[in-house]
Amino acid sequence: MKIVVVYGGKSAEHDISILTAFSIIKEIYFEYYDVQPVFITKEGTWLKGEPLTGPVAFADALKLEEAPEAHFATKEGEQSTGVMINPCSIKDEDTVVFPILHGPNGEDGTIQGMFEILDMPYVGCGVLASAAGMDKIASKQLFQQVGLPQVPYVPFIKTEWNEDPEAIYNRIEGTLLYPVFVKPANMGSSVGISKADNRDELMAAIEEALKYDRRIVVEQGIDAREIECGVLGNDDVNTSVVGEVVKEVGFYDYNEKYVNNTVTLQIPAEIPEEVSHKVREYAATAFKAIDGAGLTRCDFFLTESNEIYINEVNTMPGFTEFSMYPLLWAETGINYKNLVEELIQLALKRYNEKHER
Ligand SMILES: Nc1ncnc2c1ncn2[C@@H]1O[C@H](COP(=O)(O)OP(=O)(O)O)[C@@H](O)[C@H]1O
Ligand SMILES: [Mg+2]
Repeated sequence: MKIVVVYGGKSAEHDISILTAFSIIKEIYFEYYDVQPVFITKEGTWLKGEPLTGPVAFADALKLEEAPEAHFATKEGEQSTGVMINPCSIKDEDTVVFPILHGPNGEDGTIQGMFEILDMPYVGCGVLASAAGMDKIASKQLFQQVGLPQVPYVPFIKTEWNEDPEAIYNRIEGTLLYPVFVKPANMGSSVGISKADNRDELMAAIEEALKYDRRIVVEQGIDAREIECGVLGNDDVNTSVVGEVVKEVGFYDYNEKYVNNTVTLQIPAEIPEEVSHKVREYAATAFKAIDGAGLTRCDFFLTESNEIYINEVNTMPGFTEFSMYPLLWAETGINYKNLVEELIQLALKRYNEKHER
């Protein structure tokens, strides 16, 4: 079989995607698979790399530049190259796609829709789950339907704001207490998110969020620990042990997450057994609520008095060897290599089940 690994992408998480692709390619069972790397540049160009029969030498070798021939660098400082392709040309027999893309265009159902049209098996969530998981308003409404506890929130669209900001302030201030968190509905990696402590900051936060999306959600801010649970499976859902993102900073933003590394992962989280049990149950419920497939990481807030609130589901969570999702599974008993293989098997299973009908 062949695995097409699609990575990079037009997203704030372009670089982390390359690191993840490096980790995954290193651990793919090359005894069973040929690996075809496909790099999406920051501008959105698709470049086909040299087919691989083993890991690449270093992560930066996966950054391709367009050229007539595809070749991977073997030494630091050398430039790898790839051949420009039409995305649809990845279609082939006996091929599974492994999309390693975060954020809009990669994690939001759009690329999953392309794989559906090409009729190819692909790792991870389908169109609906990806779109619903990415959209902070849609996911909250689905979680509400299945009774998952979450912080109060106020959604609105740009047109409503432009027409009558006073009405929006009243809705927010009538429902929530400062501080609040203002978020674009569709972004990820903390882009466009800010905390507001008063009306002036709220206005600035809304203007900032509107740069990224026409749909906005304002949430009740809470002082809480951040705990996360991995989900693996299709219709049969398995949950991992629970981990904590231990923060030294109040607001876990992109720089803190990926650049400054001021967070540490505590696995398993030091929380009471019944809390962990509940979190795992909620994570499975959230997975089913969005019709998840393959994997999700479900993120929660945990208050000092052990109240649990679901924050979000990520349908393509961070997946380097140092990321929460694989570390949670390692602690649960599935190592990185087997996790990658399990995800490929789940993709095939889902595809085959669909074709049996
Ligand atoms: N309602 C809230 N109360 C307190 N902190 C919050 C709240 N919402 C978000 N945060 C902080 O902001 C971070 C990013 O928000 P999140 O909704 O998880 O966005 P992203 O999709 O970018 O990960 C969270 O990890 C948390 O630290
Ligand atoms: Mg988050």
